[in-house]
Amino acid sequence: MDKTMRDLQFATVAIHSHQEPDEKTGAVITPIYQTTTFAQEDAGKHKGYDYSRSGNPTRTALEGCLADLEGGEHGLCFASGLGALTTLSMALFKPGDHIICGDDVYGGTYRFFDKVFRPFGVEIDFIELADLQTVRQAIKPNTKAIFLETPTNPLLKLVDIEAMAALAKEHNLISILDNTFASPYLQQGLKYGIDIILHSTTKYIGGHSDVVGGALVLRDDTYRQVLRFHQNSLGATPDPFASWLTLRGLKTLAVRMKAHCANAMALAEFMESHPNVEQVVYPGLPSHPQHQLARKQMNDFGGMISVRIRGGLDASRTFMKSLKLFTLAESLGGIESLVEHPALMTHASIEPEVRAGLGITDNLVRLSVGIEDIRDLKADIAQALEKAAALAKV
Ligand SMILES: Cc1ncc(COP(=O)(O)O)c(C=O)c1O
Repeated sequence: MDKTMRDLQFATVAIHSHQEPDEKTGAVITPIYQTTTFAQEDAGKHKGYDYSRSGNPTRTALEGCLADLEGGEHGLCFASGLGALTTLSMALFKPGDHIICGDDVYGGTYRFFDKVFRPFGVEIDFIELADLQTVRQAIKPNTKAIFLETPTNPLLKLVDIEAMAALAKEHNLISILDNTFASPYLQQGLKYGIDIILHSTTKYIGGHSDVVGGALVLRDDTYRQVLRFHQNSLGATPDPFASWLTLRGLKTLAVRMKAHCANAMALAEFMESHPNVEQVVYPGLPSHPQHQLARKQMNDFGGMISVRIRGGLDASRTFMKSLKLFTLAESLGGIESLVEHPALMTHASIEPEVRAGLGITDNLVRLSVGIEDIRDLKADIAQALEKAAALAKV
């Protein structure tokens, strides 16, 4: 972490870390260094940058700021969250290695591990990470890493970060936490002993649904060199404008997260008391089975809610179609509210029987609660639930 940032609060770090006014021009905002290459004084003698895939000053600012916000030593940015995942995987694992991965991870993570990395010769077990004993039993002599997501997508299950990091350390495994759903504002895994944090910056970090990106943040120097080498060698790097947009979004992460959390809590409570809702899954509700763990490891409970609509698939479809402010779309974490159907959309690539086993039922709907006025969001949900209820009664 940058020493000058150590004593500052999160919201301040987001705005100032690695974003000093430009020395040459005084520009207050980090410029978009829209260039592929950099002039060299002499062959091989340059000012720290030679080619924008290898490094670019706009990207450097984003990487440094993200590292400071997660409390890490190094940040590395990518063209997407999956770019971060594939680069990490190519850099750290080889055929014959074994990875333990949560069974409720993002569908694209599952697809990469299952359909791309498994045929490549890497063994992967997807298991429930809630029970430490099950994880312990899954560790084999060739196990190299534990990959976890918390809260998970879409069922918002929690994994005990501290326990998982300790178990990984005990067995000399690399611990990797996908922190996309929480963002560093809500949860910082490195301080619990996690080795590497992964982000789809496309979500809360960018925050405006206008730029795709990914990042890794490293606790220390251990994997810096190999990951930097692969970042450059594989080439899944963000362009300067994407880095700049992400950095601009990141500046307001604290205020946005506060608003996301407050809106989500109010909607979760409202829906839990509604007769046409079978179940509301939200870590901030006392009914969430891991509410206490959420209180321990999260600063607040996030903007994601999953809800089972009474009346099955048809009622869920009517609910989603009737919403006026929640746009039916994949992705999450933007300022605008979205709704999606995991079984038909984000998790459609998972086999139906695996999906059913995970609890991704046909009446499960996922909400990404935005930062619009809560009165409007509540009214929208209320009218859509009424329409779904009318259908369920027929
Ligand atoms: C938790 C999580 N991790 C990783 C990803 C992949 O990120 P990207 O879409 O930026 O490649 C996503 C995307 O939805 C996600 O939700």
